[in-house]
Amino acid sequence: MSGSWAANARTVSAAPQTFAEPHHTNASDRRVFLNASQNVNGNTSALAKNLFGNLTYKQVNLASYNIPQVGQGDGDFSKVWDQLKDADVIVIGTPVYWSNMSGYLKTFIDHLQINNDLANRDLYMIVQSSDSDQTLAINSVYGTMNRVAIRFNMNFVGIGQTTEQINQLHNKMIGNAPSNPTTPTTPTTPTNPTTPSEPTTPSNPTTPSVPSTPSTPDSWTITDKKGVGRVYYTPGYGINVWTNPDGSTFTKRINHGTSWKYFKIAKKANKTMYNLSGNQWVDGAYFR
Ligand SMILES: Cc1cc2nc3c(=O)[nH]c(=O)nc-3n(C[C@H](O)[C@H](O)[C@H](O)COP(=O)(O)O)c2cc1C
Repeated sequence: MSGSWAANARTVSAAPQTFAEPHHTNASDRRVFLNASQNVNGNTSALAKNLFGNLTYKQVNLASYNIPQVGQGDGDFSKVWDQLKDADVIVIGTPVYWSNMSGYLKTFIDHLQINNDLANRDLYMIVQSSDSDQTLAINSVYGTMNRVAIRFNMNFVGIGQTTEQINQLHNKMIGNAPSNPTTPTTPTTPTNPTTPSEPTTPSNPTTPSVPSTPSTPDSWTITDKKGVGRVYYTPGYGINVWTNPDGSTFTKRINHGTSWKYFKIAKKANKTMYNLSGNQWVDGAYFR
């Protein structure tokens, strides 16, 4: 669609929002992503992928269930509800439809019973749209989801729409975020940043010569550049080592705080991947 969904609309002011600190920031937490888009693998699910990063999660697509309008039967409501109850962390993603959450999500919420309980679950909302100014949609989504979170005793951790907001929410999810959400999301200072001099030996350091062909070679710019980088993630957890810069499959994880030799750097748009020899790539968001 060309043009703006909000063409000729009056501007609105952002409503005040308050959020809770997350209670679940461990790698082993159970995470569910409730996708309220008509597209199972669309922009909303891509936004969730960015939010979770390397964390594991289960995606539940409302579009794959039959939940009728309230008053017309329960349909598959309890099948979805049961999966939410099983989670510690619930991320709900909605595309913006006419400056509000999608009908899929609103219909699901309409089925909630006031005696239902999701106590102590962390709730994150992510909002996907075409237009950049989503003040009206965010106000609407916040208003409804804040009521839902209060009613069901959930910790409403935040709403994300922009890349920066999604990064901030990711850091909250891994317990790496300052409580003040306006503070930049720079990783915590390593305990010994000046001494990366004894890098752990990569698994095949002597044979960096045959990198695998990345799956989209024309879109990555790959340069030979040697150095030593360090993993900045969360103490006790590791980051994925992918078989190509696109990060579609990974073979193992390397731990926060460890140092590694790298041999190539791949860049695409605002993404940087480092090659640790052979077909071993790590995300520059957590390695430098
Ligand atoms: C029925 C409908 C209404 C929409 N209304 C808006 C809107 O008000 N504002 C906007 O910015 N985008 C609007 N969009 C665009 C979607 O929010 C956008 O394309 C989003 O990325 C779709 O996510 P998906 O790939 O998960 O479906 C609308 C799309 C549809 C299908």
